[in-house]
Amino acid sequence: MCGIVGYIGKRDVAPLLLEGLQRLEYRGYDSAGIAIAGKSGGLKTVKAKGRVRELEARVPKRFTGTTGIAHTRWATHGAPSDDNAHPHLDAEGKVAVVHNGIIDNATELRAKLTADGVEFRSETDTEVLTHLIGRSQADTLEEKVRQSLALIEGTYGVAVLHADFPDRIVVARNGSPVVLGIGEKEMFVASDVAALVTHTRQVVTLDDGEMATLKADDFRTYTTDGARTTASPTTVEWEAESYDMGGHDTYMHKEMAEQVEAVDRVLRGRIDDRFSTVHLGGLNLDAREARAVRRVKILGCGTSYHAGLIGAGLIEELARIPADGEPASEFRYRNPVVDPDTLYVAVSQSGETYDVLAAVQELKRKGARVLGMVNVVGSAIARETDGGVYVHAGPEVCVVSTKCFTNTVVAFALLALHLGRIRDLSVADGKRLIAGLRKLPGQIAEILEQEPEIKKLAEEYADARSMMFIGRVRGYPVALEASLKLKEISYIHAEAYPASELKHGPLALIEPAMPTIAIVPDDDLLEKNRAALEEIKARSGPILAVAHREQEKADHTIVVPKSEQELDPILMGIPLQLLAYHTALALGRDIDKPRNLAKSVTVE
Ligand code: M6R
Repeated sequence: MCGIVGYIGKRDVAPLLLEGLQRLEYRGYDSAGIAIAGKSGGLKTVKAKGRVRELEARVPKRFTGTTGIAHTRWATHGAPSDDNAHPHLDAEGKVAVVHNGIIDNATELRAKLTADGVEFRSETDTEVLTHLIGRSQADTLEEKVRQSLALIEGTYGVAVLHADFPDRIVVARNGSPVVLGIGEKEMFVASDVAALVTHTRQVVTLDDGEMATLKADDFRTYTTDGARTTASPTTVEWEAESYDMGGHDTYMHKEMAEQVEAVDRVLRGRIDDRFSTVHLGGLNLDAREARAVRRVKILGCGTSYHAGLIGAGLIEELARIPADGEPASEFRYRNPVVDPDTLYVAVSQSGETYDVLAAVQELKRKGARVLGMVNVVGSAIARETDGGVYVHAGPEVCVVSTKCFTNTVVAFALLALHLGRIRDLSVADGKRLIAGLRKLPGQIAEILEQEPEIKKLAEEYADARSMMFIGRVRGYPVALEASLKLKEISYIHAEAYPASELKHGPLALIEPAMPTIAIVPDDDLLEKNRAALEEIKARSGPILAVAHREQEKADHTIVVPKSEQELDPILMGIPLQLLAYHTALALGRDIDKPRNLAKSVTVE
């Protein structure tokens, strides 16, 4: 949520910052801005409501300098506007701050500063911090920032530029990511490696409570209390090209297409044919501990929550351990009973989602064992958890999640198989499931080949005002996820219900103008699902089925290849990603940047 980028070195900074902002735009895209330390002293800023391209159009020709910070915003305090865009300046125009996160006591601090005569130019919480730094009497920029941060409550990733200290950028982190990029006689800072990888893959990720001073040829890290810390650079695994669109019109399209290789990657090196099981190196859970687990509780938000629901089903089926999924955003506020025999799994593509992170921290505080199921290596949730499974989907730039969802579900299948084979899952079932997992990449490719037909269906349904998604048991989380996908990018209202619940209320909505998308796998519930289709047909509701064979009662069927039935949810969601995509395209939506959303929700 919001993107930060900064640079100090010898190169002309404005083009570098604009390029970085473009790469971070998926984190927030309602306004953007840049501040640079001008060659003749003082700071220069330019800001614009809207996308980075709007900002770029406003950057004057002589906007030169070699040190600067920039920001792309997702509004929390104050509507999107030029004034509310970051960077914010202090009264004298000497301090520029870009900030991700929320300052909880901003109202109180604002009132005090206003009483002292400070005039605010924006409605943001960030401007408070800018004035605090500007008014600090400390001698060094580091001390000014430290003193000011000590007065604020809340979360932040910040970068600060000061006209009197043009040889440095000071940054700090508490709950919002800050990554330093180490170059040759140049340093970068960003909220996400996406903005760094074209320049350097050597990075240092700050911990909460850590600060850093960046100079062109040097950097140092220390705590907000001033104690030096040791920064060990790591190498970013992901290639710079994996952040490009690679010939596709949108990131979403590219990322759906990448599911073939992404699923292959999450399986690679993990299957153990000798024992018909899988090895998950980072789990940190030996066989004895795994056998002692009495329950599994899976926590995530949005799409990751849906992947967790499928994961819970897989764990119950394969390992016979009671398992359930819950939105992390709810769990953390309901004072949950934390049971020592429960294994908690936190799911997050970004590894940054604040609600998930807060749930993990609450669990850890209560002594629970928490595993992470995360895509971004070294992210906050990956670091906070006791072990876990990386989902290896590669970078996901589109705000809506597709390949990460699929890979997370496959990673859950691996975890379930691993737990199952430690318990009572037979060798024969282990072999059967491994064979099923190995077939997945090819089967995904087969589904993706149906895109032209799915596009036609999407165009047919695009004028619907509302759609119903139904599935039963394994199919229900697939329906939930498919309905979320449609809502997010097409803005068509969608409901998801267990097919078994239709008669208990939602059937009242069925009419010719309300299409139903039904998940109808060829499993032991096939006849039950067919009965639901009959009920819908009897009320003249149009039906699109996703099934393993043509469904008579449906107006259209998308046929997906048959997998092992436990793995059906992995494949059945994929045509519905394409359906959402082409519906949104038919409606002319901005697919990669849907309204009101941002990729990583790092605030409450
Ligand atoms: O990064 P996370 O997986 O923790 O993100 C959780 C949700 O915010 C995310 O899945 C959201 O629902 C996406 N927009 C889904 O497409």
